[in-house]
Amino acid sequence: MTARYDPELPRLDANTPSSARIYDYLLGGSYNFAVDREAAQGMIAAFPALPQVLRTGRAFVRRATRYLAAEQGVTQYLDLGSGIPTVRNVHEIAQAAQGKESTRVAYVDIDPVAVAHARRILHGNPAVTCVQADLRNPAAVCANPDIRAVIDFSRPVAVMLNAVLHFIPDDEEASSIVGAYLDAVPAGSYLILGHHTSDSVDTAEAEARQIYARTTQPLVPRSRAKITAFFAGTELVEPGVVLTPNWRPDPAEMSEQPPGDTPLYFGYAGVGRK
Ligand SMILES: C[S@@+](CC[C@H](N)C(=O)[O-])C[C@H]1O[C@@H](n2cnc3c(N)ncnc32)[C@H](O)[C@@H]1O
Repeated sequence: MTARYDPELPRLDANTPSSARIYDYLLGGSYNFAVDREAAQGMIAAFPALPQVLRTGRAFVRRATRYLAAEQGVTQYLDLGSGIPTVRNVHEIAQAAQGKESTRVAYVDIDPVAVAHARRILHGNPAVTCVQADLRNPAAVCANPDIRAVIDFSRPVAVMLNAVLHFIPDDEEASSIVGAYLDAVPAGSYLILGHHTSDSVDTAEAEARQIYARTTQPLVPRSRAKITAFFAGTELVEPGVVLTPNWRPDPAEMSEQPPGDTPLYFGYAGVGRK
């Protein structure tokens, strides 16, 4: 896999917490440094349910990918802000449904650790790539030769933006980014989107969010109405934009849901068809 170096993009920095590595730690991964673990521990102390909230978001990505690959025959996935790959990632799920030969996946992340790790585990998977890029520049992402070597933009693509758009504070910028990716793909493509919400008010969650803002980048929750607006130009797949665990729940994954009735509903998720 080609490693292109862009001086505009961040380089590995083990002294500053990174949202990708904090996320990895919170999901139980091992691709993180002491500064990341310290920041993550502060968040867990403020909001003990955080790891489960994140696992709920990750489970949505798996269900949505499985739905598109197994039920809608989608073979191409552009995963923007893909993070550090964890077990049962997008390409594994899509390949299980569509076969290794026909599944094409491009992971895109700004974090060098996420990209380096992805490249290691993707070795031997020529139809899957990982590119370090800033998703806020859709024209550059869609023109990137490494991505174009894998994704054919004349055929349907699932554009994935899970747990990342809430790092873009400006509503207009966020919707123009989503619009630009949807413009770059043909009819029959899909948008998979999960987003942190402001609808639930919880002081512990708000404190964890403040630690996030101090340590990495501000995380901007949005209302269900604003999150739904990102799907403009698509037809929402049933059940629409719903609390993340309620998007086509899979009984086989119920063990990942928290026991009892803890309200781990800090995000909305949906899938739309262009
Ligand atoms: C919370 S993680 C979500 C990972 C994955 N999408 C998931 O749902 O499990 C957010 C990821 O977005 C990446 N990210 C944040 N801003 C980005 C940007 N402007 N361009 C590309 N990636 C970005 C971070 O590096 C991090 O890996």
